Amino acid sequence: MSEHDVPAQTVSDYEAVGGGPAVKAVVNRFYELVVGDPDLAPFFAGIDMASLKRHQVLLVSQVMGGPAEYDGRELRAAHAELPIRPEHFAAVVEHLVAALQEFSVPAEIIDRVVAALGQTQPDIVTADAH
Ligand code: HEM
Repeated sequence: MSEHDVPAQTVSDYEAVGGGPAVKAVVNRFYELVVGDPDLAPFFAGIDMASLKRHQVLLVSQVMGGPAEYDGRELRAAHAELPIRPEHFAAVVEHLVAALQEFSVPAEIIDRVVAALGQTQPDIVTADAH
């Protein structure tokens, strides 16, 4: 088989779920769940949700192999001042999974998103478990 026979690249997870509009819908639902969670809401009090959502859309897009390029602060810098414990991180990931499931995103894609987010935990969790 020559190099010309290489099959066309498979669609990215980002394309598979419906691209930008689908990712935006998931992120909107994700944030509803996060700010509706009494354990998490205090972290987001006074934060500009519009810009936070925009960044989150870009970040989730990139995690899923989409075209967007995240241009926000380093994750470590963005979370450095926040007393985020492992259980807060787990709760946020859980809400994202729930939002992805609500939009019928296939489990294998959700698994990859969770794995990619899991790699960010050391940058985001800045406080010990209680
Ligand atoms: C699951 C992994 C997470 C990812 C990928 C993530 C991603 C981000 C991104 C991209 C920003 C925006 C940075 C910017 O605007 O420059 C941000 C900000 C923020 N994140 Fe996270 N985050 C995660 C988990 C968490 C958790 C667990 C909490 C708290 C429970 C949290 C609370 C916040 C807050 C309060 C801000 C705003 C900080 C500020 O503007 O001063 N994040 N996050």
